Amino acid sequence: MQSERLIFRKFSLDDIDDVFEFGSDDETCKFVTWDKHKNILETEKVITDYFMKNKYCFAIVEKISNKCIGSFEFKADIKNNSLSFGYVLNKKFWNKGYMTETLNFMLGYAFNTLKVNRVSATHIRENLASGKVMEKCGLEIEGIFEDVEFLKGRYITLVYRAILRKNYLKGEKEYETIRNA
Ligand SMILES: CC(C)(COP(=O)(O)OP(=O)(O)OC[C@H]1O[C@@H](n2cnc3c(N)ncnc32)[C@H](O)[C@@H]1OP(=O)(O)O)[C@@H](O)C(=O)NCCC(=O)NCCS
Repeated sequence: MQSERLIFRKFSLDDIDDVFEFGSDDETCKFVTWDKHKNILETEKVITDYFMKNKYCFAIVEKISNKCIGSFEFKADIKNNSLSFGYVLNKKFWNKGYMTETLNFMLGYAFNTLKVNRVSATHIRENLASGKVMEKCGLEIEGIFEDVEFLKGRYITLVYRAILRKNYLKGEKEYETIRNA
């Protein structure tokens, strides 16, 4: 699968150095729930036991460099026909619109191909960049849970966001109308 500047594909062990690059970085891992990778063996385990086993976990590859610059994963809630997601990007590639491009693509995949009813995510309140990406892609705030989890030595406040199928399709229709005007 691909968007304008990015390819989304399954992970393989060939990605190990690229994954270690972002998975072991303090700044990148500050706002994620998992612990940073302490060594390349941990990265190998994450790729084989987690990334490669999840059907909806994608390596984000920059077309121009053919480098794996991040990951995007959906978690499926089959009974309720909904998905939640998480993502991370190598900090050398931040603020180029890459994760917005990824999330926009993945929402199209979720609603148009997988035909789900709801897509949701959470982010730590201080993670303004992540909140901005979700906001730009149309995910509305459903609630803010103060000090809801104890993570990496402190209480964190989580912002819950989601977009429903009916609102996504309405947005797509409006976009088409503007484009054709
Ligand atoms: C969150 C993350 C995925 C964003 O990826 P990205 O490709 O840099 O995002 P984009 O470039 O598409 O958009 C980022 C937006 O946030 C804004 N932004 C960045 N840092 C910001 C900050 N400190 N405060 C406010 N806005 C900020 C950018 O200006 C941009 O908005 P704009 O397009 O209106 O200018 C990336 O920073 C990352 O991987 N962070 C570490 C892991 C992480 O936090 N994962 C998410 C856990 S919920």
